[in-house]
Amino acid sequence: MNTPGQPRFHEVRVKVPFNAIAVQDAALREPIVAAITRVVERGWFVLGEEGEAFELEFAPVTGCAHAAGVGSGTDAIRLALEAVGVRSGDDVVTVPMTAAYTALAISMLGARPVFCDVEPRTLTMDPERLEAAITPATRAIVPVHLYGQCADMRAIGAIAERLGIPVVEDCAQAVLARFDGRPAGSFGTAAAFSFYPTKNLGAYGDGGAVTSSDAAVIETVKRLRNGGQSARYRHVERGVNSRLDELQAAVLRVKLAHLPAATAARRAQAARYDAALRGVELPVEAAGRLHVYHLYPVRHPRRDALAAALAAAGIGAIVHYPTPVHLQPAYAHLGLARGAFPQSERAGDELLSLPLYPGLLPAQQDAVIEAVLAFASAPAR
Ligand SMILES: Cc1ncc(COP(=O)(O)O)c(C=O)c1O
Repeated sequence: MNTPGQPRFHEVRVKVPFNAIAVQDAALREPIVAAITRVVERGWFVLGEEGEAFELEFAPVTGCAHAAGVGSGTDAIRLALEAVGVRSGDDVVTVPMTAAYTALAISMLGARPVFCDVEPRTLTMDPERLEAAITPATRAIVPVHLYGQCADMRAIGAIAERLGIPVVEDCAQAVLARFDGRPAGSFGTAAAFSFYPTKNLGAYGDGGAVTSSDAAVIETVKRLRNGGQSARYRHVERGVNSRLDELQAAVLRVKLAHLPAATAARRAQAARYDAALRGVELPVEAAGRLHVYHLYPVRHPRRDALAAALAAAGIGAIVHYPTPVHLQPAYAHLGLARGAFPQSERAGDELLSLPLYPGLLPAQQDAVIEAVLAFASAPAR
């Protein structure tokens, strides 16, 4: 189908793809292929020395003593919640402006996601609204470090501690982010990370990790991820099958060593956008927080028109996330209508993520800047 006046799909040359993992990893191709070859030659693919080495290397990056590699970020949240004591019928407080997987992980346990709206500036959990969201059945709080910036962990942590409720940080988008100088993952009882390929630390398939400084939490996650076995073929719990495999761990070990440089490249590109863009609302790096720019979402009241203008200029841009979780059909049973969480809803209407990744060329960034400025300065039609 072609709308009159709009270019046909094949006529639009994508000048700036939204993401390009092969470009990001181009300089690492040799060591990555060598790492994969090492695993293939060893012939051991699940729960082996690459995974163990990765866990040892990854835990300190998150400010934690221990890590457990699991099958995905979603499983990491689900297993961390179970390890801190969440059970079917419990309530878990999280935000509606997140990847739906945060809530889906809660639902996987038979627990109920209860939502707390986000602050309008940082789009992370609003501590001022947190206590009102807590019910007598609340057994955990899951702040999401959205787009690469930590939630206000001082305020959230103080409330959680006073009420004796464990915190599981959703760090899927925030590896290496910091709050008050401390790394994402070091604030809660446990933290969950995703290594989905597009993440700042991305595997070549699904993957995730739980980190914690509580040895018992990680021991539980390691048992649960492996069918609930305490010893071979002895299943003491109804666990799941969710392990980070050896190939992914080997790839991640190579990429972890380069993550600080990749993060610096993301921050430099964000600074360039910050300095050049006008006429759109820019992401805010709040005081005391180090943003790792997993995404660079700008805001505009005519977001869909901005997205169309960028698409016509051959620029990839994506909405994260158009529908807050409480308005997803999967959560219709919660009976939450539009208006329940206005900040998340407005963000869903106005945000548009621009291309930002290591390897994005300055000329490509210039093309994005030029297209945004042209849109913002043109009279609204
Ligand atoms: C904030 C957030 N939480 C959880 C997840 C789930 O991670 P995964 O895709 O590895 O299951 C993602 C990624 O999709 C995410 O962005």
